[in-house]
Amino acid sequence: MTQPADLPRAQLGFFPTPLHPLNRLREKLGHDAPCPSLFIKRDDQSGVAIGGNKVRKLEFLLGQAQADGCDTVVTAGAQQSNHCRQTAAAAAISGMECHLVLGGEAPEQASGNLLLDQLFGATIHWAGAHRKGEDLPEIVEELKRRGRKPCLVPYGGSSAVGASGFVAAMGELADQVRAGVCPMPNHIVFASSSGGTHAGMVVGAEIHGITSKIHGISIDKEEHGGLTYPDWLTSLTNETAALHNLNRTYAREDFVLDERFLGGGYGVVGELEREAIALLARCEGILVDPVYSGRVFGALVAMIRAGEFAADDSVLFWHTGGAPAIFAYAKELAGI
Ligand SMILES: Cc1ncc(COP(=O)(O)O)c(C=O)c1O
Repeated sequence: MTQPADLPRAQLGFFPTPLHPLNRLREKLGHDAPCPSLFIKRDDQSGVAIGGNKVRKLEFLLGQAQADGCDTVVTAGAQQSNHCRQTAAAAAISGMECHLVLGGEAPEQASGNLLLDQLFGATIHWAGAHRKGEDLPEIVEELKRRGRKPCLVPYGGSSAVGASGFVAAMGELADQVRAGVCPMPNHIVFASSSGGTHAGMVVGAEIHGITSKIHGISIDKEEHGGLTYPDWLTSLTNETAALHNLNRTYAREDFVLDERFLGGGYGVVGELEREAIALLARCEGILVDPVYSGRVFGALVAMIRAGEFAADDSVLFWHTGGAPAIFAYAKELAGI
């Protein structure tokens, strides 16, 4: 079986990321309902540019790009994209030029992830209403005309190569379980959006003997490559399995994709996110973001309050990062 170590890999992050219990939170939530044992996997501490899950994917994406002789990275995302911010930093670490194609227009003043993109030296291309990467081919051609060797990093870093970061992450978790850092979780709860994290976890769980229920919380209802998200996720998982020589075909029913917490839509901050951000910050001194990890942590709290876990379950909240966006959502988070 091909293990991730056989794929070219750049060294970017600090791994393993910490994994620890959330005892104060458990005690607090346990006043109202039976509360499972709670653990947190700190990919917000992955070590590059204020952390996040994308660093894991970028180790494989930029490893492959460098093996192919590329000197420039091009990717696309929203104005507050965590993926773009971590790509800009990863490019800086790797001595590569970085071009980001961001939806919308330049704001009067950059904040949050966008401010960091600029600090990491990325060239920003504003795409206006073209929010699906329509401008990418033209930018790549222009870079080639200038003599650069560009590599196109997919939206959210979600290709089979990118998802390999989370295949490896499940090996890291298996090591931590073996070392007694936490019991084998009954459930892993995390944000599922462009699919690489989810696909890599599912394939990595199979390869590394992780028996947890992999519980993806859907963040948005975007289509990907003309497919509904569940179909895209299934296809990406099958590609990732094939890349790792895993002889298994996945179907839609093999995924837990929870769409109950979409709220007002992508990036719309509601009471769920506001309460979640304040609760984790005040109870454990940990920051989650308003778009991804805050929504997922809010979902987890709602599930605990609804009695969806048994008291003797162990639940791992996989913190995928995103904290810089907090500063871009100051208005929505005011008065918490
Ligand atoms: C902070 C954060 N968490 C989770 C995700 C979702 O990961 P994926 O795109 O692999 O589904 C993202 C994606 O942008 C993110 O920025």
